Amino acid sequence: MRLKIEKTGARAWDEAHLKELFSEGFPEFVTADPLVKNYIGRVREFFAGLDLMLVDEDGVPVASGWGVPIRWDGRPESLPSGYTEALVHSVEGHERGVAPDTLVICGAIVTPSLKGRGLAGETLKALRAAAKDAGWERVIAPVRPTAKARYPLTPIETYMRWTREDGSALDPWIRTHERLGATLLSAAPASQTMTGTVAEWERWTGLVFPESGDYVIPEGLTLLHIDRESGEGVYREPNVWMRHR
Ligand SMILES: CC(C)(COP(=O)(O)OP(=O)(O)OC[C@H]1O[C@@H](n2cnc3c(N)ncnc32)[C@H](O)[C@@H]1OP(=O)(O)O)[C@@H](O)C(=O)NCCC(=O)NCCS
Repeated sequence: MRLKIEKTGARAWDEAHLKELFSEGFPEFVTADPLVKNYIGRVREFFAGLDLMLVDEDGVPVASGWGVPIRWDGRPESLPSGYTEALVHSVEGHERGVAPDTLVICGAIVTPSLKGRGLAGETLKALRAAAKDAGWERVIAPVRPTAKARYPLTPIETYMRWTREDGSALDPWIRTHERLGATLLSAAPASQTMTGTVAEWERWTGLVFPESGDYVIPEGLTLLHIDRESGEGVYREPNVWMRHR
């Protein structure tokens, strides 16, 4: 398949194609981080050039990936705490006129019928090329390990080090990054913080939460904490910081 890279904002896309592309992959609660809601509009406005589509011969978008630029000194200790803080740093840095030197790859998605064929890798390569063109030295990613939801009780620090017999990462999405030469930097145990009322969490998960406590939720990478007294639920999503060559 011959694929072309286009900027997502460069043209209008067929609604049905977009719907198909984004139809599978993320649970509903993934957008429930209030800090992200506060910054995502400016991210889209400031960094539209880092939102890319992979398009097939017929002009159909088959994969998408995006990122934000930050200034980072390369030390693990000074990494943002995860996805959300990377967005905050990128927007605030841009507003203060700080010159970025690092691309943070924030997300990628492949159309359901073409998963498992390396398209995500092509998307990551396109983003890395964009960083190179911009003259940024480093490329990092708070990777959302796609198979972690099968092990919601395992700490991310443990999970991220699990390997298969051939020595490659057990998690398929960590593995895709590794295949492109990326290495583990550190765990990001609270990469995002999703909050909602008990009623919202019941709607997002299809479960009921009769008592306060921790719950395993569908597609949750870790546990949801419900506090019936305040009427709130909090879920802190663990990711893994990786660095590309
Ligand atoms: C994660 C994702 C982007 C990977 O894209 P991809 O193009 O399928 O990636 P790859 O082709 O490199 O495959 C990665 C692994 O997925 C596994 N895989 C194979 N077929 C698959 C399928 N139909 N569905 C899901 N995963 C599959 C394979 O094990 C493969 O690893 P391996 O070749 O080392 O065994 C894609 O599955 C996706 O869009 N998921 C939903 C959104 C998401 O979670 N994005 C990442 C967080 S932002």
